[in-house]
Amino acid sequence: MLKQEINELLTQTGPGTPMGAMFRQYWIPALLTEELPENDCPPVRVKLLSERLIAFRDSEGRYGLIDEFCAHRGVSLWFGRNEESGLRCTYHGWKYDVTGQCVEIPSEPAIRHSSLCAKIKLTSYPLVKIGDVLWTYMGDPRTTPDLPQWEFAHVPAEQAYTSKRWQECNWLQALEGGIDSSHVSWLHSGGLKTDPLFKGARGNAYNLADRKVFFEVVESEGGLLIGARRNAEEGHYYWRITPWVMPSFTMIPPRGDHPIHGHFWIPIDDENCWTYSYDYHPVRPLSAAERQAMTEGHGVHCEYVPGTYRPLQNKDNDYLMDRAAQKRGDTYSGVKGISMQDASLQESMGPIVDRTKERLVSTDSGIIMARRKLWRAVEALRDEGVRPPGVDVAHQMVRSAAVVLPKDQSFVDGCGDALRVRPGEKHASV
Ligand code: FES
Ligand SMILES: [Fe+2]
Repeated sequence: MLKQEINELLTQTGPGTPMGAMFRQYWIPALLTEELPENDCPPVRVKLLSERLIAFRDSEGRYGLIDEFCAHRGVSLWFGRNEESGLRCTYHGWKYDVTGQCVEIPSEPAIRHSSLCAKIKLTSYPLVKIGDVLWTYMGDPRTTPDLPQWEFAHVPAEQAYTSKRWQECNWLQALEGGIDSSHVSWLHSGGLKTDPLFKGARGNAYNLADRKVFFEVVESEGGLLIGARRNAEEGHYYWRITPWVMPSFTMIPPRGDHPIHGHFWIPIDDENCWTYSYDYHPVRPLSAAERQAMTEGHGVHCEYVPGTYRPLQNKDNDYLMDRAAQKRGDTYSGVKGISMQDASLQESMGPIVDRTKERLVSTDSGIIMARRKLWRAVEALRDEGVRPPGVDVAHQMVRSAAVVLPKDQSFVDGCGDALRVRPGEKHASV
């Protein structure tokens, strides 16, 4: 249970809020590279941390993320013409470059033109391509951190796949679903047997056989390591270790030789977020079958309403709930697909769940520690200017792991280096 004021502190990320200030310390995903496929392509609306912005790619291939609204009289630049190294407002022709600098006011006499332009600059943020994602940093330019080092964004392109989907709830309840691995034995039990990106791993049998998960949560430099322990063969435990790196990066423990996957949750505003879902294999290209399964919405990905990033299964159609499949046990909840099983339940809690009413139990220990860590970091930043965990790129070099260990060994000792990125080495998985 949380006090209402703490719930508000952790869930509000607009300009001027303490959690908003914390999100503005990090490089965060702004959009997928595929959304700006070529020079001078159409601009894209991007709402992040409750700020309305426009992303575009100019004639030289430079990326820009600027205020959505023209400085003249506030028209949306989504209607703009992307031409000759800038975005031109279609109302009266004012033009802006990728830094938001106004470079042309065609109606003004030449004599006043350059001095007037020089005074007009829209808010802008850097936009940098790394892997399948365009990243932005919305904080103070004087304290821009090093570029992100997440392994999924840095492996060769043929080893990775990233998608995104609109999720209609606050970022924190989506994140809390990501670090609550006790739900896997229930909600996703059908998928462990059938999903092409999950099935066949030896570890799945332990998952399905032991539903009484024991959690051990350990602090890491960037966030937490959440260990979920189930019984394995005589004298052994099966451990699934999920790293969470602040503010909202998680990596799901792998299964067999399947690629590793995970999520990044980025606030659109306080009642909506983007779920970025990545899959990558540290040492081999994804197979054609794996890539096809991902584009078809298996694993952590989903199918879309055509032409959008809204899931095809969404709250307007009750996520295409199939009660017969629920009864037969094909899927535990009746909703198809791991990602929409998660999203359907997380959205069902309402846009911002009332945490003053919840009743937490032992399997929620990861969630409890994550909230405490976020809260402490928000206050340390607000009161003392302390840079939060996860900004330092060393904190980002993490991996999840799934291992079988002797009963007397801690997961931290048993995994050792397997919880860090080891370039050229496979992930630890059973
Ligand atoms: S409103 Fe944009 S040029 Fe006038
Ligand atoms: Fe889930």
